[in-house]
Amino acid sequence: MFEIKSGHTLGKRAQYEELAQQARGMLAGEPSLIANAANFAALVFHSLPDFNWAGFYLYDGTELVVGPFQGKPACIRIALGRGVCGTAAQTRQTQVVRDVNSFDGHIACDAASQSEIVVPLVKADGSLLGVWDVDSPSVGRFDEEDRAGMEALCAVFMQAVDPQR
Ligand code: SME
Repeated sequence: MFEIKSGHTLGKRAQYEELAQQARGMLAGEPSLIANAANFAALVFHSLPDFNWAGFYLYDGTELVVGPFQGKPACIRIALGRGVCGTAAQTRQTQVVRDVNSFDGHIACDAASQSEIVVPLVKADGSLLGVWDVDSPSVGRFDEEDRAGMEALCAVFMQAVDPQR
């Protein structure tokens, strides 16, 4: 159970649902990718516990380039197929890494990171926008509910920034 701002506790799934609603309201009617990405990163980072980094890597046609985020300064460019982010981008499948120290090729931007989830962001036309990456200082922070919750949040984000969706 997580404590939320109002002081009562909600199960993880209910908390993701509430967060998705907040994100939907926050992004509604604003088409700017950078503005929405910045506010989305801030909303998620400050609403859920035990994160040390949450943000975007955007695909520039060649590689992933760091975008709006919350947390310490991060690696700027990541090739497709490299690290957890590059793997999510290349496979287009969410990566849930229980212990980053056992992930071959993990890119350590912040030594505090112990577990990580990365969701690929794919536009309606099939092209890659980038990835959504969240790191935690705790091993095993992300489970199947986080996968479903983060994917649902990313769907809300994509609906706002990709007019074709
Ligand atoms: N750990 C990531 C790199 C990005 S930072 O975590 C912000 C990776 O292996 O792709």
